[in-house]
Amino acid sequence: MAITNPFIESKLKSPEEVALALPRHVTLGCSGFTPAGYPKIIPPAFAKRIESEKKEGKDFSINLYSGASTGEELDGALARSGALKLRIPYQSNSYLRNLINEGSVDFIDMHLSHVVKYIEHGILPSIDVAIVEAVDVTADGKIYLTTSSGMSATYLLNAKEIYIELTDIHPAELKGYHDIYLLPHHSRTLPINIVSPEDRIGTDYIQVNPDKIKGIVRSSVPDSASEFKAPDSDCIAIANHVLSFIQDEISKGRIPKDYLPFQNGVGNIANAVLASMAKNDDFHEIQMYTEVVQDSVFDLIDAGKLKFASTSALTFSKLGLKRFHQNISQWKSKFIIRPQEISNHPEVIRRMGLIAMNTALEADIYGNVNSTHVMGSSMMNGIGGSGDFTRNSHLSIFMTPSLAKNGDISAIVPFVSHTDHNEHSTMVIVTEQGLADLRGCPPKKRAELIISKCAHPMYRSKLLEYFEKAKELSKGKHTPHYLEDSLSWHIRFLKTGSMK
Ligand code: COA
Repeated sequence: MAITNPFIESKLKSPEEVALALPRHVTLGCSGFTPAGYPKIIPPAFAKRIESEKKEGKDFSINLYSGASTGEELDGALARSGALKLRIPYQSNSYLRNLINEGSVDFIDMHLSHVVKYIEHGILPSIDVAIVEAVDVTADGKIYLTTSSGMSATYLLNAKEIYIELTDIHPAELKGYHDIYLLPHHSRTLPINIVSPEDRIGTDYIQVNPDKIKGIVRSSVPDSASEFKAPDSDCIAIANHVLSFIQDEISKGRIPKDYLPFQNGVGNIANAVLASMAKNDDFHEIQMYTEVVQDSVFDLIDAGKLKFASTSALTFSKLGLKRFHQNISQWKSKFIIRPQEISNHPEVIRRMGLIAMNTALEADIYGNVNSTHVMGSSMMNGIGGSGDFTRNSHLSIFMTPSLAKNGDISAIVPFVSHTDHNEHSTMVIVTEQGLADLRGCPPKKRAELIISKCAHPMYRSKLLEYFEKAKELSKGKHTPHYLEDSLSWHIRFLKTGSMK
């Protein structure tokens, strides 16, 4: 049932009225994180207005900031309007991705934990208007967010004007899931008081000046998260390698028997790891301190293996959301939704000693990882939180199938075509072929391990050939590279369509 009060009633507007009130040149700070809790009604209305007024010769420019990726109704609609000029800090919309890669939209690919400071210190254009999805708003300016926290609190506090999409998709019991806590402007401050994922240090609402709320629009549109494919044999093999490695680390006393909290990246491989944990009798209850929780968490809950999950977003498919709603009251003891500055904060990640598991596009023989740029130049999605977690966790694992594009691409290459996570941060690389534990290994040993354990047999001898030639011909021998050849695999793919 739709929540209401006299304040909400006094602020109600149609999406068209809000669209008309938005400035033609505007920096928007929107809710939304991978893609949960983003506004879905006002942006398409704004895009429609842009389309019609452009015909009258009016020009528009939009800087769009969010927490992370959003859905078609926000990223897609504003990208298609042709008015989008700048996007931060992460996206995964194919239309927008093309505009970014052809150069018509500027994209600043940022560590998600850095965004707050860039906004508050005026490094990026300041926020004119915040648009957030909420489940409730009170007359004294308390805003209760929906399924993501992301950057919403910072945008709301920094915006000159606020518009709210009040959704009736979620029951009012969603109130209480959030823990809003922001750091002071400068970081010389007390420690963030989180020592365990379930620790609460803030409020379950964002307090704003109610005078800044210029309009409230009612919404009944759900998030657009997609269903997961059942894990394929590669995902299952990768998950099994990761799980046996964790068991081995426990037997060596490097991970306690009751585990360390897990961070789990986006996508099918990450989900397969959680699904395998749920099925594996050697695994018991886990905790998560992560930035996004997806449907695979239900496997853990069903198996009685989720103790607690702290996240910046609950990104559920249609079916997943139904389950969440059915259990929304009792699962308040299972989840916290935090601002991304806190979910991804190096201090908290290092203190708790996370086990971070993220996905790579490619890795090189020394352990450098590319998560963002196809063939060195084309932006895929962005680094997201993978850098925040990889650099600061107790254990940083990268997973990828050893092949892409039906075998025309080897995910293990002589030299990555772009580096997001360097050899100093990457501890473990896993493909369906096997797992290379790179910790404590000098560069040549790392290369031997990655080639023998992770490369696909189709490319293994070619990698060895490169490595031998590099040892023979490189000028310095500590990390041997034969520079004339080091990117030749990518060049071959670009010229012929295959690295073979
Ligand atoms: N070179 C070129 N293309 C490659 C490639 C490579 N080495 N490896 C994969 N690809 C292609 C795939 O073929 C696929 O192409 P398609 O869309 O045309 O089918 C695409 O890249 C995505 O690959 P997929 O295997 O479906 O990967 P994914 O959905 O698991 O995503 C990342 C992988 C790396 C793109 C994704 O995890 C990501 O954006 N990571 C960065 C952000 C992050 O890690 N956040 C962390 C915390 S949530």
